[in-house]
Amino acid sequence: MREFRGKTAVVTGGASGIGLGIARALAAEGANVVVADLDAGAAKQAADALRALGIRSLAVATDVRRTESVEALAAAVQKEMGGVDLLFNNAGVYLGGPMRRATEDDWRFVLDVNLDGVFRVGQIFTKLLLEQGRGGYVVNTASVGGFLSYGAGVAYTVSKYGVVAYSEAMRVDLAPEGIGVSTLCPGPIDTNLPASDRFRAASEQVGGFSEALSPLTRGGMKPGEVGPIVLAGIRNELPYIFTHDDLREAFAQRFETVLACFDRIGAPAAG
Ligand SMILES: NC(=O)c1ccc[n+]([C@@H]2O[C@H](COP(=O)([O-])OP(=O)(O)OC[C@H]3O[C@@H](n4cnc5c(N)ncnc54)[C@H](O)[C@@H]3O)[C@@H](O)[C@H]2O)c1
Repeated sequence: MREFRGKTAVVTGGASGIGLGIARALAAEGANVVVADLDAGAAKQAADALRALGIRSLAVATDVRRTESVEALAAAVQKEMGGVDLLFNNAGVYLGGPMRRATEDDWRFVLDVNLDGVFRVGQIFTKLLLEQGRGGYVVNTASVGGFLSYGAGVAYTVSKYGVVAYSEAMRVDLAPEGIGVSTLCPGPIDTNLPASDRFRAASEQVGGFSEALSPLTRGGMKPGEVGPIVLAGIRNELPYIFTHDDLREAFAQRFETVLACFDRIGAPAAG
């Protein structure tokens, strides 16, 4: 997809950070934007500000952890906007801290939003895009953590490895239908993600904590810089959209380690 003017985009997690950065970049190019977010007040504020840029914008309070909420979002998009052209499957939360401290509640909190949520939104909107029969584009937000794992924030990393796999499958499945798919893999971006455990229920057993991300993201790239990078990635139909070139070496090391293990097949086991 090369032209965004007049298209309708849905952005989950669009009231803050990367989602809001994408929403602003889309609006600047004349796209209409549906801001879908758990934080209804922030979503309304974002949609009001986007409307001031001269586009149509709608705020829809949405919880990607609940199927009926995502179905209501899809129905609102059809009714109010006449359908969807671009989906940004972006809502997410973070928990860090050492792997050994991760609890089952940590795991469920993160996986429910970051992986199950991406699946719910992806499946419901794929159905809508296919019914419409007018092509479209999907960007699923993973992370560089979808390729690099370091023994901390394990639920987060597992969720993002999952988003990479889900998004790759979607790209293959939807290509014949004229629907493009990219996986967004940001490095550290200065957003509200380090405060995302405010969404946890008081009853949960806490091991990991989201503030652990703060030293990495504070002073990092601003969300406003991410939006244009994402739109350029869509125009070039990139399978993966990266934001930080300085992480190239960490990726090279990972894949070299993987390939070196193939070289050692048949070699006598060490020790
Ligand atoms: N900030 C980074 O460094 C970074 C790096 C890589 C990937 N990411 C990913 O980018 C995406 C956006 O995160 P961000 O950094 O902009 O954080 P953010 O906290 O600023 O924005 C996330 C938004 O998602 C919303 N949200 C949370 N739970 C939700 C739910 N159940 N249903 C609907 N909305 C929900 C929040 O209200 C918030 O507005 C996430 O998937 C995150 O994992 C962020």
